Parts: sequence; structure tokens; C-alpha cells
Amino acid sequence: MKLLVLNGPNLNLLGIREPDIYGKESYAALVRAVKEECRRRAIGVKILQSNSEAALVTAIQKAYGKYDGIIINPAAYTHTSVALLDAVKAVGIPTVEVHLSDVSKREDFRKISYVGLAAKKTIAGKGIAGYLEAVAFFAEGAKA
Ligand code: DQA
Repeated sequence: MKLLVLNGPNLNLLGIREPDIYGKESYAALVRAVKEECRRRAIGVKILQSNSEAALVTAIQKAYGKYDGIIINPAAYTHTSVALLDAVKAVGIPTVEVHLSDVSKREDFRKISYVGLAAKKTIAGKGIAGYLEAVAFFAEGAKA
């Protein structure tokens, strides 16, 4: 199994960025934790962060035929990007949406998720552990 993990804008600033909301762990720590979980489960993984919507769309397009699952935290593009939703639908790769914070308990504009409309599962409010839960979801057969 091969997973593609995509992280959207400003997630590279984890640890610095609003730590009360997003936690004190760095982006490097997130990458380490996901890689370790995938190694433990013998799953191949590529992890990418971009501040650019276009780069994220291109990464999803390029995943076609190469990855068994996508784990995506589209960050602010969650709430705006029909292009990311369309890309996920276009490639037809099972996708899990992850958010570090509980977006359902924040501002109203964060309650809308475009990618979420195509996601098999959304995990929010569990910090970095949410990414590990997404890996487990794929490892255990992505059924829910
Ligand atoms: C986020 C939530 C989004 O609303 C926000 O724009 C982010 C991060 C999260 O992981 O909690 O950048 O996706």
C-alpha cells in the first residue's frame, strides 16, 4: 500500500502558528510521526506540504494510478477550494480529510469543507494523532 499525505498552506509553520489551536509540535514532528506509523505498518508514504493550491491539485492529479489512498489537510483551502474537491473526484483515489483543530467548533466559515464532500472520512480535533488514525483507516481496509 502507498499513501500520499498532503498538507496545505501555513501547516509548515506548525509549532509557531497559533500553538493554542494547532499545538506546539513542529511540522517536522508531524512528518516524523506519520513516517514512523507508516514504517511500522509497512506502508509506503510520500508527504508533501504546499502553500499553493495549484501545487496541491497537481500532486493529486499525479497520484492517479500511483497511490492507494490520500490523506489531506487542505488547511484554509478546505473552506474555499472547489478545485481540490474536483481533483479528488477526478482521480477517484480514496481520501481521508484531516484537521488538527476541531473545525466544527470554530468560526462558521470553517464549518464548510469542499474536499470533505468527496472524502471517505473526516478526522478533526485530534492533532497529529488524527493523521495516524487516517493511516490506520487505510491499513485496516478503508471501509467506514
Ligand atoms: C486546519 C483548519 C483550517 O480551518 C485552517 O485554515 C488551517 C488548519 C486544521 O488543521 O485544523 O490552516 O485545516
